[in-house]
Amino acid sequence: MEISKRADRISPFYVMELLEKARMMELQGHRIIHMEVGEPGFETPGPIKEAAVAALNEGKTFYTHSLGIPELRRAISDDYANSCHVDIPPDRIIVTNGSSGAFTLLFAALLEPGRTLVLSDPGYPCYRNIASLTDCAIQSIRVSAENNYEILPQHLDALPSADLLVVANPSNPTGAVYRPETIAALHRRLSDAGALLIVDEIYSGLTYDVDFSSSACISGDIILVSGFSKAYAMTGWRLGWMVVPPNLVRPIQRLAQNLFIAPPSISQYAALKAFDDKEVLAQMCSLYKNRRDFLIPRLKGLGFVIPRIPDGAFYIYAGIDNFGIDSMAFVERALSEAGVAITPGYDFGEYGASSHVRFSYADKLDNLEEGCDRLEAWLGNV
Ligand SMILES: Cc1ncc(COP(=O)(O)O)c(C=O)c1O
Repeated sequence: MEISKRADRISPFYVMELLEKARMMELQGHRIIHMEVGEPGFETPGPIKEAAVAALNEGKTFYTHSLGIPELRRAISDDYANSCHVDIPPDRIIVTNGSSGAFTLLFAALLEPGRTLVLSDPGYPCYRNIASLTDCAIQSIRVSAENNYEILPQHLDALPSADLLVVANPSNPTGAVYRPETIAALHRRLSDAGALLIVDEIYSGLTYDVDFSSSACISGDIILVSGFSKAYAMTGWRLGWMVVPPNLVRPIQRLAQNLFIAPPSISQYAALKAFDDKEVLAQMCSLYKNRRDFLIPRLKGLGFVIPRIPDGAFYIYAGIDNFGIDSMAFVERALSEAGVAITPGYDFGEYGASSHVRFSYADKLDNLEEGCDRLEAWLGNV
C-alpha cells in the first residue's frame, strides 16, 4: 500500500536531517562544529538528574495521569506565580511529551478542514508540518527585520480568515522578542473575531538585555506552550506543558489519553526539581549571551548580514546575499567542505529562504570560535 497523501506531503525538518548527516560524518571520524541544532550546549543540571535516578530507584516507572502528575502541574503553576505573579490554577496546566506534543494535541483539538492557521514566515517549521495533518488551511505572514520580525494586527486584517495564530516568543529562527503591546493587540484583534492565539514560550528564560514577560500576564485566554527542553537543558527528556482555557482541558485530555497515554514518568519526577535553582539557569543564560555577543560581530566580519540583534533564544538569522550561493547549497557545502553544520533558510518558510541561514549559538564558545575560523578559511575559497 502507498503511504497517505498527507504523509507524502510533509516536509522534512531539515535541521534534523542535517544533524543526522553531521552525526554520520562524525561516526566516520570527521570533526564537525554544530551551529545548526537548537540544543543547549549544557548537560541537564545535577539536581534534576538526581531526582530522575531517585524516581527510577523508587519504581516510579508507570503510566501517570494523562495530563501530568499533580505535583508537577502545581510546581509549574507556582513558578508562574513566582516569576510573573500570575495565578494559573494547576487544572489549566497540561504536561505534554515535549512542547511538540502540546502542538500535536492543540492542533488536533482546534484545526480541521475549513479553518485557517496563521503562522509567520520565517517561523518554526514544525507548526506547519504538524498542522498539515489536519488538512486545515495555512496562511503565512511575511515578517522582516524592519518590524522586529513581529506579526502585527494589520497583517491579520489583510487575510481572508484567521482562526488560530501561533507566534513563538522569543522566536525561532530570528531570536526576536515580541513587544508585550504587540501580543496584547494581536490577542484583542483575534478575540474580537472569535479566534485564538497560541504563544510558544519555549525560549522564555533565554532573553538578553530585554525584559521578557510571559503572555500569561496579558490574558487567561491566550494559550501558552512551553517546556523544559531549552532553558532547563532537557531536550532528550521530552517534556513540555501548555496552559489552556478551562473549556479545552477535557477535549485535550481525551486526545492525550489516546495519542500519548501519559507524558514520560521519570522525566516528570525529575522536572519537579527544575524550578528550584534559578541561579544555574541564570548562569546558562549569561553564557549564551556571551556566545551571542562573540558571534554577531564575527559573522558580520565574515560578510553575513544581521540587520537586528536577536534578543532571545540562541539563534542568529543571517543573510547570505554577499556570497551569491543558494542557502541549501551553502549549508551543504559548509558541512562537507568546512565541517560546519548550519541550518538553511528553507527550514523556516519561503520568504528569504534562499538567502538566509540560521546559526545556533547554543554550543560552547571554543567550538563557535573554531566554526568561525573554519568558515573564514572556507569562504576565502568559495
Ligand atoms: C519554537 C520552538 N517550539 C517548540 C520546539 C520543540 O521543543 P520540544 O523539545 O519541547 O518538543 C522547538 C524546538 O526547537 C522550537 O524551536
